[in-house]
Amino acid sequence: MRMKIILVMTILWLVACKEKTSPKSIDKFNEQHRPQIHFTPKANWMNDPNGLVYLDGEYHLFYQYYPDSTVWGPMHWGHAVSKDMLKWEDLPIALYPDSLGLIFSGSAVIDKDNTAGFGANAMVAIFTHHNMDGEKAGTKTFQNQSIAYSLDKGRTFTKYADNPVVKNPGIKDFRDPKVIWHEASKQWVMVFAAYDRAMFYTSPDLKSWTKASEFGIPGDDRLWECPDLFPIKIENSKDIKWVLITSIQKKAPNGGTATSYFVGDFDGKTFTADIKKQQWLDYGKDNYAFVTFSNMPDSSVTGLGWMSNWEYAQVVPTSPWRSAMTLPRKLTLHKVNGEYLIKSHIVSGITNYEKGTIKPSKDSKGGSMWEISDSSAYKITVASQSDFKGLRWSNSLGEEIVLGYNPILNQYDFDRTKAGKHEFSDKFGGVHHAQRFTSSKQKNLTIYVDRSRIEVFADGGLTCMTEIMFPTKAMTTLRLLDGSDGDVNVVKIEKMR
Ligand code: FRU
Repeated sequence: MRMKIILVMTILWLVACKEKTSPKSIDKFNEQHRPQIHFTPKANWMNDPNGLVYLDGEYHLFYQYYPDSTVWGPMHWGHAVSKDMLKWEDLPIALYPDSLGLIFSGSAVIDKDNTAGFGANAMVAIFTHHNMDGEKAGTKTFQNQSIAYSLDKGRTFTKYADNPVVKNPGIKDFRDPKVIWHEASKQWVMVFAAYDRAMFYTSPDLKSWTKASEFGIPGDDRLWECPDLFPIKIENSKDIKWVLITSIQKKAPNGGTATSYFVGDFDGKTFTADIKKQQWLDYGKDNYAFVTFSNMPDSSVTGLGWMSNWEYAQVVPTSPWRSAMTLPRKLTLHKVNGEYLIKSHIVSGITNYEKGTIKPSKDSKGGSMWEISDSSAYKITVASQSDFKGLRWSNSLGEEIVLGYNPILNQYDFDRTKAGKHEFSDKFGGVHHAQRFTSSKQKNLTIYVDRSRIEVFADGGLTCMTEIMFPTKAMTTLRLLDGSDGDVNVVKIEKMR
C-alpha cells in the first residue's frame, strides 16, 4: 500500500513538473517585446512576406520561415490565414525544401481560368528554388523560379513536376518572383530581381515563360530583392499608373535595407519609369520586402512588409520568436507638386480593434502626458496647427524614444539612441530622418505603437516611418515635447488591446 502511495505521489510530482516546464504553461504570445496586433510567428525565425493572396473570404500570408532556430536557416514557407489581415490563424508549413533547393521568396495567384491546367481556381505559388549544393560548388545558376499549386485553399501544395519553370541564365542573384495577370495582353507577367535590376517574363500558362525585358538604373550596383508590380489609379483622376516596387539590400535612406518604388507605365512587356527617380515607401529602418496581395476582393492595392532590417535582424533580443510583419497597408497614388507619390494607410478594419480612449493628465510643468499600461497596443492621432515639436515616450529607467519635427529641414526624426537594448548591434541606435513632401504648416500624424513596434504615418500617409525598439521596461509615459502643447488641437489615444 505504502509503495502504491509513493508511486502515485511520484507520478503527480512528475506531472506537476512537466506542467511547469511544458510550453503550454508559458503564455506564448505575451513574452517581452512580443507585439499584440502585428503578426509574429509562434516561434523561430521569419523574414519576408510571401504569396500574399485572397481567396474565398481568407487572406493568406505565407512567409520566409526557418522552423528550427531563431536565426535564418533553410527556408520554408510558413502560413497563416485571416479574415481581415489583422487577426491571423496559424496553419502548418506550406512548402518544405526539396531536392531542387530551399524555398525562397515569391508570390501566389489564383488561376481562375485554369490556364495551367491544375484546376479552376487553383492557388499557384511561384517561388525561388535556392540550391545550396550549387551555391557551395560555386555555380552561378543555383537560384531558379519554380511553381506549386493547391486545390484546397492553400492547405496543401503539390510541386510542379517540371520545375524549375524559369531557368537561371548565369546570374548569381536571380530570385523573388512576383506574378500578376496582365488583362490587356491576356497573359501572366513575372517580375523578379536579377542582382541590380528587375527582369520581366511573360507566360500564357504559368509553366512556360519567355523573357520580355529588364529595368534598372544605369550605374546602380545595389542588390535588388522582392519586386512587385501593379497598376494603380491616380487619386482624383481616372488615369492609371504602374508602380514597380523593389527592396534594396544596402544604402537605404537610414542605412541598411528598405523598400523603394518607381512610378511609370507597363505595356505587358516593358516597364518605363516616368523619371528614374527612386522613391521610398517607408523612411523607417524596419519595413523590408513590402509586397501586395493578389486577387484583392475590393481591387485595392494592399500589402505588408517585414518589420526588420538585415543589418541586425538576426540578433534582435526576442525569444522564442524573431520578427513581425507590418500592419496591412492600403496604398494610394497622388500627384504632389508634379511628382507621383504613394500614400500608405492602415486598412480600415483596424477600427474594429479600437477599445476606448486613454485620457491625458498634466505633468508638473502643466504639459500633457499619458500613462499607458505596459500591455497596451494603441493608436495615437495628432492634429496640429503649426508648432508641433514632437512626442517622447519614456520609462522609469531613463530610456526613451522621440519622434520630433525639424522645421528647418521640414522632416520628421525618429531618435532611438536611448531606446533601451542596443548592445546586439552598433547599427541599431541612431536618429532616423523622414522627408516631408508637403510644406503645409498643419501636421497630421497617425501612429500605431505595439510594444517593440511603431508605425508612423504623417501627412495622410505621404511620409511613413516603421521602427522597432527594445526597451528594458515598457515605455509607459508619453509626453508632447515642450512647446507643442498650446498648438496641438487634438491628440487622441485609442487602446487597441
Ligand atoms: C529578402 C531575401 C530574398 C530571399 C529571401 C531569403 O529578405 O533575401 O531575396 O528570397 O530573403 O530568405
